[in-house]
Amino acid sequence: MKRQVRRIQAMRVKYLYINTIGCQMNVYDSEKIAKALKILNYEITPFVEKADLIIVNTCSIREKAEQKAFSFLGRLAGLKRKKPDLIIGVGGCVAQQEGAKILERVPYIDLVFGTNAISRLHGIIKMVAAKKCRLVDVEMTEEIEELTFDPEKNGDRKATGYVTIMQGCDNYCTYCVVPFVRGKELSRNPSKIISEIEDLVASGVREVTLLGQNVNSYGQKEGHLRFSELLVRVNEIEGLLRIRFTTSHPKDLSEDLMRAFKDIDKLCNHIHLPVQSGSNNVLKMMNRKYTRKLYLEKVEKLRNICPDIAITSDMIAGFPGETDAEFEKSLDLIKKVEFDGLYAFMYSDRPNAAAARLPKKVSENKKKERLQRILDLQNGFTTKKNKALEGSNQLILVEGFSKKQGKLNRHNNPQDIQWTGRTSTNKIVNFFQSDDSSYNENIVGQLVNVRIVEAFSHSLWGKPNSVEPLSNGLRGEESHVA
Ligand code: SAH
Ligand code: SF4
Ligand code: F3S
Repeated sequence: MKRQVRRIQAMRVKYLYINTIGCQMNVYDSEKIAKALKILNYEITPFVEKADLIIVNTCSIREKAEQKAFSFLGRLAGLKRKKPDLIIGVGGCVAQQEGAKILERVPYIDLVFGTNAISRLHGIIKMVAAKKCRLVDVEMTEEIEELTFDPEKNGDRKATGYVTIMQGCDNYCTYCVVPFVRGKELSRNPSKIISEIEDLVASGVREVTLLGQNVNSYGQKEGHLRFSELLVRVNEIEGLLRIRFTTSHPKDLSEDLMRAFKDIDKLCNHIHLPVQSGSNNVLKMMNRKYTRKLYLEKVEKLRNICPDIAITSDMIAGFPGETDAEFEKSLDLIKKVEFDGLYAFMYSDRPNAAAARLPKKVSENKKKERLQRILDLQNGFTTKKNKALEGSNQLILVEGFSKKQGKLNRHNNPQDIQWTGRTSTNKIVNFFQSDDSSYNENIVGQLVNVRIVEAFSHSLWGKPNSVEPLSNGLRGEESHVA
């Protein structure tokens, strides 16, 4: 009898709520966390009140991201009072950076685990649950810890997936916290990467984004394949339709990789190539190891090799000591390149990052004003690039319902459902499914040929021409939702 009770208790499904803040790497890590905790019977819930375990996967890239984590944690105080058995854990980059200090700052947190601790997480949680103790694990590993999971059925029919191919960073850009919170650059073994992508494809994923802080230096330390060779291997995976990667550091963008955009048929026509500043002096202070001229030359070469490529970038406004004239150089570079899209950020001091110790900080007001000028300028180019697509036909990989469609009307007639997907150049396209009878009811994961009818500043509106007939037999059973 006793044993039976124990077994029933062991079988009880527990609920896990994860709040993921930060970049795609954190999204990927959160997926790993969810998989790793299945062993303890945790299932994901979208309702925080229902959770037995809450994990906040944090980001430390700017102060604002860090504040976001603490304000979420603040909101959990009441819940913890109501549910004393609730376990609250803090993971990710702020956890790595602050360690035990988080336990002091937030008294009702049970565990803090760093960016290298996911493989040990189920053990930590078991211990916390059994002993009602508070634990910190921010140990950094010298090697990549591979976690293996049983391939899963992709319940949500996700068409896209992330795969981290390397962790850490050795570049030490002076503003950046990543080398301190993610550790040394390490590349995963190509065979692990390939088999993980194969599993994703088997579960219905059709587009994979390879993640690393600087994918161009993939495998160099370890003597694995070069990144362009890895792309060739990924390209051979049957059933995979599209490949993307991020991020590419301009200093290491080789001609080899530029040519990959032309030669590797599944590689999408988009590169994210963060420039950060258009001023040589600021680039030097940032330790970016390239000049404005070199950046512009690489963009030109890339466009010569692959004229249709979309280029997006990151820019920092108000790096310490950035003068008005130096800032104008950034605006000038934006005008010269005409990016397809640009993420711009106000400079933020980060712990351990060298630039935090630089004098001559730019005032908040000035940073705000500069940021706004960057955004206003870029908006014009983004809209111009989008408008140029009006009337063209684009192949869209369908990712799901559009934001507007939401979940309320999911039982609409197929032709009334608004879908969303992206072009090869990474532009969002929303469209109604046509009443063409050749359509499957659910087109997630399918390539659809869409005519762009209207362009907006952040998305495009299209009208489908046809569902691309796929030669690899993916339509039919495979592309339906059960
Ligand atoms: N590894 C990538 C960048 C990762 S961080 C690369 O080297 O390009 C993403 C972006 O955040 C950076 O490109 C930069 O623009 C921005 N960023 C990083 N640290 C920042 C800081 N301290 N203040 C403001 N923006 C920052
Ligand atoms: Fe940060 Fe620079 Fe590394 Fe990118 S390359 S993660 S900006 S240190
Ligand atoms: Fe943030 Fe860590 Fe990514 S600091 S941007 S979550 S690597």
